[in-house]
Amino acid sequence: MRIAVLSETDGAETRVSATPETVKKYKSLGADVTVQAGAGAKAGFADAEFEAAGATVARTAKDALQDADIVLKVRRPAAAELKGVKPGAILVAIMDPYGQEAALQSLAEAQVSAIAMELMPRITRAQVMDVLSSQANLAGYRAVIDASADYGRAIPMMMTAAGTVPAARIFIMGAGVAGLQAIATARRLGGVVTATDVRPAAKEQVESLGAKFIAVEDEEFKQAETAGGYAKEMSAEYRAKQADLVASHIAKQDIVVTTALIPGRPAPKLISKAMVEAMKPGSVIVDLAVERGGNCELSEPGKVVEHNGVKIVGHLNVPGRLAATASSLYAKNLYAFVETLVDKEAKTLAVKWDDELVKATCLTRDGAIVHTAFQPAA
Ligand code: NAI
Repeated sequence: MRIAVLSETDGAETRVSATPETVKKYKSLGADVTVQAGAGAKAGFADAEFEAAGATVARTAKDALQDADIVLKVRRPAAAELKGVKPGAILVAIMDPYGQEAALQSLAEAQVSAIAMELMPRITRAQVMDVLSSQANLAGYRAVIDASADYGRAIPMMMTAAGTVPAARIFIMGAGVAGLQAIATARRLGGVVTATDVRPAAKEQVESLGAKFIAVEDEEFKQAETAGGYAKEMSAEYRAKQADLVASHIAKQDIVVTTALIPGRPAPKLISKAMVEAMKPGSVIVDLAVERGGNCELSEPGKVVEHNGVKIVGHLNVPGRLAATASSLYAKNLYAFVETLVDKEAKTLAVKWDDELVKATCLTRDGAIVHTAFQPAA
């Protein structure tokens, strides 16, 4: 059983799909691990550390892929990267499969079994494999750190001989995995924290972290959570009521972090240009939804925009801004999944293709797109 760990070809990707710690674990599963030279460099893991953990370092991707049964990556490989992959190999990554028909076709043509980690069901057994949670949690933390770095004032209240510094008012919009960590981080820094969401379950979670919950709590709010625990897209009437509430609240805030997402839909627009204009100069908005269209009308992917003295931060790949921590957690998510594909007695690959975790995540197999949600149009 051979495992290949490839370098990321996207220059903006700093994370790596295995760490010396997970290499050791793969070795004790009975696998040989080959790491492409430099794969961990941006995350602070040197080739020598991988070697010390028992991996072989290969000079090129082609060398690393030689005979590999399992290939690990952070991002979906482009068609060119698939040259040299053994037919039948299992490729595990964040596949970003929506609207990517041509890319899925090239995975099928390369004869790989492509596993999309972000499609892992959110059930108890798979929590340890949940890459969306491990990465969103870090994004929520980093968003507050980024906001504090761009904010020209202190966050906590300080009583000094020279006078009292007031605590920053921090508003978190969307209280899912990223938002709850943003709340916790903002509280640790000493901010006065409020948060909003459209799911009623979020209220208790927000309050348990010591923040104040603010939302339009009408009949629609009571029904806003889907059976899967996600938010629904809200009606125009609700959005108008929400905008009124947000407009008056946001004008008094120093830092706003937005994390609101709706599965399969563009991110809801929660902060209009007029709302930004009502904020004080020096305030900071960090839009974590920028890759999905943004929660703020003025945010731009990959940029820090300044409007009337308000900074609107739209960093891409926020988990990648904590490359070492994000890689450690991502690598553990991958290990936890790969472990389920192995017969531990025989130390061989023994994939149960009818396992619910494999069925939910497997996009392609034996030359075809097999996932029901991504069937090519007839
Ligand atoms: P997400 O990334 O899809 O959305 C982020 C947040 O934005 C959500 O809380 C959502 O309600 C909120 N939102 C959407 N539209 C909004 C609007 N118009 N205004 C304000 N907020 C809005 O969600 P995430 O973080 O993936 O979590 C979704 C749910 O899944 C949560 O209930 C979470 O606790 C649950 N979960 C369960 C896990 C498990 O293993 N059981 C693991 C991780 C999350």
